[in-house]
Formats: sequence, C-alpha cells, structure tokens
Amino acid sequence: MRALVLNGPNLGRLGRRQPEIYGRTTHAELAARCVEWGAALGLEVEVRQTNHEGDLLDWLNAAADDATPVVLNAAAWTHYSYALWDACAQLTAPLVEVHISDPTQRPEVFRHTSVVTPHAAQVIAGHGVDGYRLALQALAEHVRSGPGG
Ligand code: DQA
Repeated sequence: MRALVLNGPNLGRLGRRQPEIYGRTTHAELAARCVEWGAALGLEVEVRQTNHEGDLLDWLNAAADDATPVVLNAAAWTHYSYALWDACAQLTAPLVEVHISDPTQRPEVFRHTSVVTPHAAQVIAGHGVDGYRLALQALAEHVRSGPGG
C-alpha cells in the first residue's frame, strides 16, 4: 500500500531551523527514516516537502483521487489555510496529522488552531521527528481498520 508523507513550509530546513524546538535531524534524514518505518509497516512511503501552498493542494487533490493515505505536517498553513481545510475535507483515505512540536502548548495563540484536525483520523504532536513513526503506525492501523480509517 502506497502512503504519502507531506511536509509544508520551512520543514525543508529541519536540522538548521530552531533546533531547540525542531531538533537536529535534517529533512533528508527524516525522509529516509519515514521510508524505513513505512516499509516495516508494509507501506511504500513517499516523502515530499514544499514551501508553495499550491503544490500541497495539488498533492492532496491527487491523493483524494487515488485514495492514498496521507501523513501531513502542514506546518504554518495548519493554522490558517482554508484552502487546506477544503483539500483535507475531500480526502478519501485516512489522514494523520503530525507536528514535531506540540502547537497547542506553544505560546503563540495562532498555533492553537488547526484546519487539519477536523479531517484527521488522529493527531500526533510533540514527539519530535519520532512522531512521524507514530503517525505512520497510526496511519497503517486506520487503513487496516477500514474505509475512512
Ligand atoms: C509545526 C508547528 C507549526 O506551528 C509550525 O508553524 C511549523 C512546524 C511542527 O511540526 O511542530 O512550521 O508544524
């Protein structure tokens, strides 16, 4: 079973970006781990990252058409993109939302809202990059448990 891990803006700078919050693992290292974690779960994982919102919307639209399960860290778009809300609403296979930090526990109030959560089978937040392993595990379970997860 194919699965996508989609990462939004500034996550390409993992390892260099505010390491005290996001850690020292680079995006390339994270991507390699996701592929390994996925393989162990029987998932053929493809990891993508973009700083361009339209790319993410196109990927989600294609995932809806193909019924591809998705792990999504939409980064800052999580908090305000209604286009992202709409793209997530039409997904046809399970969606798991992941964040490296726990946005709900951070001081900036704008981080306390998520347009993704209403459409997610599960939210994994605050576990660092290991959260992606937990998210893939959750995704695999939701896929196995049936339509819509
Ligand atoms: C993030 C949390 C968001 O609030 C932030 O804008 C990010 C990363 C996380 O993974 O912790 O860019 O999604």
